[in-house]
Amino acid sequence: MSLAFEVKNLAKHYGNVKALDGVTLEAKEGSIFGLLGPNGAGKTTLVRALSTLLEPDKGSAKVLGIDVIKNPQRVREVIGLAGQFAAVDEYLTGEENLYMVGRLYHLSAKETKQRTKELLERLNLADAAKRQVRTYSGGMRRRLDLGACLVGRPKILFLDEPTTGLDPRTRLDLWEIIRDLVSQGTSILLTTQYLEEADVLADKIAVIDRGKVIAEGTSAKLKAMLGGDVIEIQLESERDRQKAEQAIKGIAKKASSYDEATKTLTIPVGSDGSKSLAEVVRSLDRAKVPIHALALHQPSLDDVFLTLTGAKASEVATDAKPKRKRAA
Ligand SMILES: Nc1ncnc2c1ncn2[C@@H]1O[C@H](COP(=O)(O)OP(=O)(O)OP(=O)(O)O)[C@@H](O)[C@H]1O
Ligand SMILES: [Mg+2]
Repeated sequence: MSLAFEVKNLAKHYGNVKALDGVTLEAKEGSIFGLLGPNGAGKTTLVRALSTLLEPDKGSAKVLGIDVIKNPQRVREVIGLAGQFAAVDEYLTGEENLYMVGRLYHLSAKETKQRTKELLERLNLADAAKRQVRTYSGGMRRRLDLGACLVGRPKILFLDEPTTGLDPRTRLDLWEIIRDLVSQGTSILLTTQYLEEADVLADKIAVIDRGKVIAEGTSAKLKAMLGGDVIEIQLESERDRQKAEQAIKGIAKKASSYDEATKTLTIPVGSDGSKSLAEVVRSLDRAKVPIHALALHQPSLDDVFLTLTGAKASEVATDAKPKRKRAA
């Protein structure tokens, strides 16, 4: 198995801040690796280390088998980087921006023209090709920025929060482009603050916080850690409770619970919430149980963090207490 990238014990400190505090990760070639974490977690620092923009204090990093510290120049030849903030020239047109990048890559004038045209079309920017970038919307800038890092046909792409601040429609467009690139063999490292994004795109996810990896695996595995999705049914009437519980028995993965104050039945459904939601609706309909409201809750990044840090805190507490007792 060849690896898109691998980092071992990577550390980078800024004074007292441990931006990376011993990170070890690896990603398969041809896959999407999602790096998930809140503000200040160390995502950008890791991306910068992998793309040779900063030298780590400790540890090692390789991109497509090439050592980032020993051979930064060779690494730069195979990577594309779309930073957290679009790095395009406001006063050039979209076309001119890509053209300039092509020439920086030493493509011939003819090849650059061809590549520019092709990318503008692919990124849905053909209509705006001759407009100055300062007239572009945020989503258009992000697409152009992605285009700029595709000019050199990179084998691996680093995308630092490519969809933060985009509207849902534009986000979907970008997801589509990213999937397309991967289907053509590109490896991708994507950072995001949205679990949903990592969920639909990434083959593997690492959650980082304060420079450390706190969880790693497929999205199914991470969600399973949280106990999975939950469906909430608010009943019209207390009288339907038994009938409803009976109807959803086969769907619940664990015991359901009922809240009298809100007449709400909560059903844990594991990892395939939307499929279960349809089953719940059908079953309740068959049982002729009127529903006041229905909601599907999928674990969010907040849930991941609450669970992860909560679990850690309680481990520390239960570990520490008996020791203190024994000592006394
Ligand atoms: N050049 C720097 N000088 C000082 N501190 C830095 C520097 N770069 C990063 N840091 C600190 O390192 C930590 C990690 O920053 P980083 O930018 O990697 O986080 P991030 O996960 O990308 O956050 P965000 O989601 O906000 O982009 C933060 O506490 C940040 O303040
Ligand atoms: Mg960042």
